[in-house]
Amino acid sequence: MMKDQSSAALGFNKSKIRSFTQEQGTLNTAPLLLELSNVSHSYATVSALKGINLQIRGGDFIFVTGASGAGKSTLLSIISGELPPSHGSISHGIDKLFVTQVFQELKLIDNLSVKDNLRMAHDPTVYKNDNEFMEVMTEMGKVFGVYDALHRKVSSLNGGLKQKVAIMRALLPGPNLLVADEPTSALDFESTKKLYDVLAYYNSKRALSIVWASHNRELVRKFSGKMAHLEKGILVYSGHACFI
Ligand SMILES: Nc1ncnc2c1ncn2[C@@H]1O[C@H](COP(=O)(O)OP(=O)(O)OP(=O)(O)O)[C@@H](O)[C@H]1O
Ligand SMILES: [Mg+2]
Repeated sequence: MMKDQSSAALGFNKSKIRSFTQEQGTLNTAPLLLELSNVSHSYATVSALKGINLQIRGGDFIFVTGASGAGKSTLLSIISGELPPSHGSISHGIDKLFVTQVFQELKLIDNLSVKDNLRMAHDPTVYKNDNEFMEVMTEMGKVFGVYDALHRKVSSLNGGLKQKVAIMRALLPGPNLLVADEPTSALDFESTKKLYDVLAYYNSKRALSIVWASHNRELVRKFSGKMAHLEKGILVYSGHACFI
């Protein structure tokens, strides 16, 4: 577990979302963040998503699973607003929904240092000044095991470290919804579990809702959260993992 001191230093409190753990079939009183209604997406002749209906609520930790090509990345990019869907609608349940994304291909700037990549996440509406941002970034770097690499060029890092940097970059601006696309594919189980624990901390203590895509259903079953399972662009299951 993270020490309280570190966790406080990581803090941001943009959203005041009350969250509740809900069982499938019971009244869901957690506030709605985002709703996809009958969303479909095609790339030219390829139909990547078909008629998706999905609600994301405050406090949700949702794993999007499915085989390669099932439509996970497409769904996450639609949720983050990166990709407008071909059909269907997306509605926001709160005024100030702020979504950040960890891309499958990370989209880090290879020839800059880790620190300079992370500096791009400095949002002056979240941090009082540069010093406060640097303090939070440093503490977060220690928690993620990236601290010793802050001055290294991204191009010199292994895949696991790059993924951690990309996750930090998405957390630092203080989103209330994080979408992470295969964020631990280059990490072993121990590091994946540690990362899950950090994100679960943010989820329960900082009201951060999370959507995490993974092709590895067995892996994500080891963690607690909801599951949304895609098969060939169709959402075949959405609910608590314990009901599968
Ligand atoms: N830019 C694109 N142009 C054309 N087809 C695309 C594009 N991006 C994705 N596709 C196709 O859309 C479908 C869904 O792709 P998507 O990347 O969303 O799946 P995925 O579940 O994320 O797969 P993976 O596990 O391999 O990352 C696939 O058939 C894919 O080939
Ligand atoms: Mg993908």
